[in-house]
Amino acid sequence: MVLLRMENRQLPMKFNYRFKTVRSLIVAAGVLAVLVGAQFVLSGSVRANLENESPPLKDFKYTDFPHSAKAHRLECSTCHKFPSDNWKKVRPEADAFPDITDYPKHQSCVNCHKQEFFRGAPPKICSICHVNPSPRDSTRHPYPNPRELFDLSPKGKVAESDFLVGFPHTTHVDIVSQRGPAGSAFINAAFTRPSRRLAGEESCSVCHKTMMPQGDSKDEYVTPPPPKLGDAFWLKKGTFKTAPIGHTTCFTCHNADSGLTPAPSDCGTCHKLKPDMPPTDFDAKLADSMKIDNKVMMDAWRRRESAGKFQHEFFAHVDLDCATCHNVTEMKTDVPLTLRVSINGCATCHATPTSNDGGAINLEIDSRKADKSFTCVKCHLTYGKLPVPESHTKAVIAAGN
Ligand code: HEC
Ligand code: HEC
Ligand code: HEC
Ligand code: HEC
Ligand code: HEC
Ligand code: HEC
Ligand code: HEC
Ligand code: HEC
Ligand code: HEC
Repeated sequence: MVLLRMENRQLPMKFNYRFKTVRSLIVAAGVLAVLVGAQFVLSGSVRANLENESPPLKDFKYTDFPHSAKAHRLECSTCHKFPSDNWKKVRPEADAFPDITDYPKHQSCVNCHKQEFFRGAPPKICSICHVNPSPRDSTRHPYPNPRELFDLSPKGKVAESDFLVGFPHTTHVDIVSQRGPAGSAFINAAFTRPSRRLAGEESCSVCHKTMMPQGDSKDEYVTPPPPKLGDAFWLKKGTFKTAPIGHTTCFTCHNADSGLTPAPSDCGTCHKLKPDMPPTDFDAKLADSMKIDNKVMMDAWRRRESAGKFQHEFFAHVDLDCATCHNVTEMKTDVPLTLRVSINGCATCHATPTSNDGGAINLEIDSRKADKSFTCVKCHLTYGKLPVPESHTKAVIAAGN
């Protein structure tokens, strides 16, 4: 068995295709030997069939595996065999649980991609899984799960998931409040709380904590700002809430012992192919200039579709009930626009009867009326240049009544 090696080696950005003919012949022969050695020889009739079905070679790059390709929309278990051989080795023994922690094996691909497995030196398709593919080197990139290891690798730093997770909040919040006197087998202790309302809110922190809180630290910013920042924006600590980035919490209940559905092997019940994503309030150039070396934080920021600057830990926001702004009964975590926070959650404080009362929404709308090129910067990074949405003017009218 080959272990996953967590080397921070540089990923070859591009293979060198100018291998000398002799060398490439040797490599190709080596690959063949590997494949044959690993029993990838197909029976004659199957091979004949597959040759007809083999995908065309020309239009595809074969450097990135797309789950969305029609031909790849198969049962997840065709490729992901639960659990992976290495699950006990990837996490420290005390934290280990049966999980998918390695790439699918060659059998998952070679039936359809025989050509790509033998084309090139080394074949491009190998680099999806291997760091330095050759018949003798089976070192693989860390698999995207666990993210804690993957994110540190060159591949992980730039990877983008093909999926969103569909997590039905209502189903789970109900489990909490339905707790009987003796509790029930699959209920996590952390969900057990005395009052019904508190149970709902407290349960949130099982999965959502303040990301990089400022705490007692004197540094309020995530990275050092330029010396002459002035009023300009720089990302502060405690802006984001975390969400699960892996299976640790889910599989405490959804595991083989509990028999609870979805089972850990039912990948597709939780993971849904990413739909077209809506525009977000994110400024990539500004974010790049901050040099934030935290993939999870950057992913959260990129997905902000309401207010890119909103800071959860800000003194005036931090003690509010989550429900002030988030309606978990309406949220579908795999439908991005249902996650949008309504301006009404902000208007209680940031819209006032008149602009003289200091409401930020009033003031910015007034400034826009006075100067068409005025950019709204209080809450936004990029939306502030766009026309004022109806929701904002309505919120100000409502505050006046
Ligand atoms: C034809 C084989 C195949 C099938 C079928 C397949 N996968 Fe994958 N999956 C892969 C490969 C290969 C990778 C590694 C790709 C990479 O890292 O670029 C992967 C990676 C992943 C990842 C991590 C990368 C990401 O995009 O988030 C998730 C999550 C995942 N698969 C879920 C699923 C689910 C859910 C299904 C079923 C709906 C599924 N897979 C079906 C081959 C497959
Ligand atoms: C059932 C047959 C089948 C299986 C199994 C399969 N593929 Fe494919 N794959 C295809 C076909 C057909 C295409 C052509 C693209 C399309 O259908 O959109 C393709 C395309 C690709 C591409 C090119 C995508 C691009 O846009 O550049 C990559 C990379 C790839 N497959 C990798 C893999 C890997 C890795 C595996 C195994 C984990 C795998 N495939 C398993 C049939 C398959
Ligand atoms: C979809 C991911 C994937 C792709 C694509 C892939 N490999 Fe692998 N490779 C694996 C995994 C997973 C193993 C470990 C298999 C095991 O433990 O049984 C492996 C094992 C190996 C090994 C060790 C010997 C063996 O078979 O166990 C070699 C050598 C190797 N791969 C080379 C290659 C080359 C060369 C290519 C391209 C022609 C390639 N691989 C394409 C995932 C992949
Ligand atoms: C068992 C874990 C769990 C619990 C408990 C939980 N959530 Fe979530 N929550 C998730 C997952 C998983 C997602 C989807 C994350 C993703 O897409 O990356 C999510 C997404 C969210 C989002 C959307 C984030 C976004 O991207 O905009 C909000 C808001 C949210 N949860 C609020 C809450 C609130 C409020 C509570 C308490 C009532 C709560 N959650 C309880 C797991 C949980
Ligand atoms: C005063 C309003 C407000 C309150 C209170 C609030 N949030 Fe948020 N939350 C937001 C806004 C605004 C966003 C950004 C949404 C977007 O732009 O996509 C957000 C985003 C999130 C996200 C996605 C990650 C991120 O930070 O972008 C999660 C998870 C989340 N909130 C959970 C919670 C939980 C749990 C609570 C209660 C402990 C809570 N929120 C309280 C306004 C609020
Ligand atoms: C405290 C235990 C517990 C935890 C932790 C938990 N679940 Fe569940 N989940 C359940 C139970 C119980 C059900 C079944 C509810 C039912 O059948 O009505 C369920 C059902 C589901 C369903 C199917 C829902 C439906 O409406 O059909 C999905 C999807 C799901 N959970 C995803 C997740 C994800 C993702 C996580 C981790 C972020 C998670 N669960 C964590 C207990 C849990
Ligand atoms: C009970 C729900 C559930 C099931 C079942 C499940 N996952 Fe996940 N998975 C999650 C959640 C929640 C996350 C973390 C949130 C996220 O990635 O958006 C996650 C994260 C991942 C990640 C790392 C992050 C990423 O998206 O790239 C991979 C890889 C992954 N899952 C693969 C699988 C595979 C393969 C299966 C099936 C063998 C599977 N999962 C089954 C809920 C589930
Ligand atoms: C107090 C914070 C706050 C201020 C000030 C604010 N916004 Fe917003 N804005 C939000 C929130 C929250 C959302 C998401 C909910 C919504 O669309 O109403 C949003 C959404 C938007 C959207 C996306 C709407 C859509 O439907 O796609 C645009 C565009 C926008 N704002 C422009 C502006 C402009 C222009 C100003 C200045 C006149 C402004 N905002 C001032 C909080 C604010
Ligand atoms: C309970 C009242 C309350 C609610 C609700 C509220 N805020 Fe605030 N917020 C404040 C106060 C008070 C301040 C400090 C005075 C100021 O900057 O206007 C503030 C400051 C801010 C700041 C500036 C923070 C800084 O670092 O300088 C932003 C941005 C902001 N709020 C966005 C929002 C958004 C977006 C929402 C809705 C999703 C929201 N707030 C909801 C009370 C609130």
